[in-house]
Amino acid sequence: MSKSVNVCLIGQKFMGRTHSNAYLKVAKFFDLPAEPQMYCISGRNRAELEAFARRWGWQHAQTDWQKAVTDPQVDLVDVGTPNHLHCEMSIAALEAGKHVACEKPLAGTLAEARQMRDAAKKHRKQQTFVWYNYRRTPAVALAYQLAREGRLGRIYHVRAFYLQEWAKPDVPLLWRFDKQAAGSGAHGDLGAHIIDMARFITADEITEVTGAIQETFIKERSIPSQGAKGGIAGGAKSSAQGKGKVTIDDATLFLAKFKQGAVATFEATRMATGNQNKNGIEINGDKGSIYFNFESMNELMYYDATLPRKVQGWQRILVTNGPNHPYVSAWWPDGHGLGYEHTFINQTADMINALGGRRPLVPLVDFEDAYQTQRVMEAAVISARQRSAVKLSEIK
Ligand SMILES: NC(=O)c1ccc[n+]([C@@H]2O[C@H](COP(=O)([O-])OP(=O)(O)OC[C@H]3O[C@@H](n4cnc5c(N)ncnc54)[C@H](O)[C@@H]3O)[C@@H](O)[C@H]2O)c1
Repeated sequence: MSKSVNVCLIGQKFMGRTHSNAYLKVAKFFDLPAEPQMYCISGRNRAELEAFARRWGWQHAQTDWQKAVTDPQVDLVDVGTPNHLHCEMSIAALEAGKHVACEKPLAGTLAEARQMRDAAKKHRKQQTFVWYNYRRTPAVALAYQLAREGRLGRIYHVRAFYLQEWAKPDVPLLWRFDKQAAGSGAHGDLGAHIIDMARFITADEITEVTGAIQETFIKERSIPSQGAKGGIAGGAKSSAQGKGKVTIDDATLFLAKFKQGAVATFEATRMATGNQNKNGIEINGDKGSIYFNFESMNELMYYDATLPRKVQGWQRILVTNGPNHPYVSAWWPDGHGLGYEHTFINQTADMINALGGRRPLVPLVDFEDAYQTQRVMEAAVISARQRSAVKLSEIK
């Protein structure tokens, strides 16, 4: 491959900023086989897009995403748009011969996720990535390494939770509350991350969702003015009062079983007052346990049950020691913690390494892998609707 990777990013808001920051910084901190070039940013509003391009250093701004992804100069297309657009944009990019990095969840629906998985299979020479960036929080990557070293032993319990509180009744009807644009609410937004995290750390697969519940607490929300932060919900119908129907879940909880015998709980909500971004997991095995909470992202709690009983107890590992903790060598001296943005920069480093033929530090998520997470999401939706257990073998 050439020594540079020309990137086209679609989407210029929340993820537009995190991804732009990652492309801007990654080669300053990591030694890479190639350098990403911020070739083209694509979005809908020309004035905003041009200002964004100037601010972040994108060479070109293109309001027509189809022209952007088929530009012969582009090597990697990055899809940072609402979920209902992932399928069309990613497949167009694959068909144009590009590598693709897509935001999570893979798609708004299982059918679209399957099409994306199939397209990736068809275009095997191109690589696909999905932004399950929390894998690259040093503490989560360390938990993965501890599990591979056998330090957790046989895993009995997985307790995964992603709790936010922002979806107050006065928050308007953003695209995130619209099934047509988002596919689901807390489930796909937050639950997808913890399903991925649980599959990643355990290296095991969920075989059955044994019970699920989904709830929409706030049934209607005010329609935002065009251009309001986060945009208007695509398919939402306005009522006479200027309110529209919420068509997604505010909270989704489910129970599951893993192939190797562990049982699990998953809890995703945007209505957990007091929790701002409590994305976490506890895993209990017969040799040890880990506990992680993103609100204290530089720490991993570890319990070593192989120590003499009199000294057993939860250890707080400050995961900031370069040589010993994943990704940290690229950053700062001990104790000079990392933040949210580093998870995206770490992932970008691994994607560029993978494109250059090197192994990523911990496994990256491709479309096939993200499709497996999407199957679990689908099983939970069906389980909640039918009030029954659903085997993953039934979800194709
Ligand atoms: N990995 C994470 O931690 C994380 C966090 C937040 C969001 N996400 C995911 O990122 C994606 C985007 O979310 P966001 O929070 O950045 O949303 P956002 O609303 O902040 O930004 C969406 C962007 O998509 C653009 N867009 C919408 N329709 C478009 C079209 N037809 N053509 C071109 N551009 C279009 C908008 O103009 C905007 O720039 C979603 O899939 C979401 O699930 C991931």
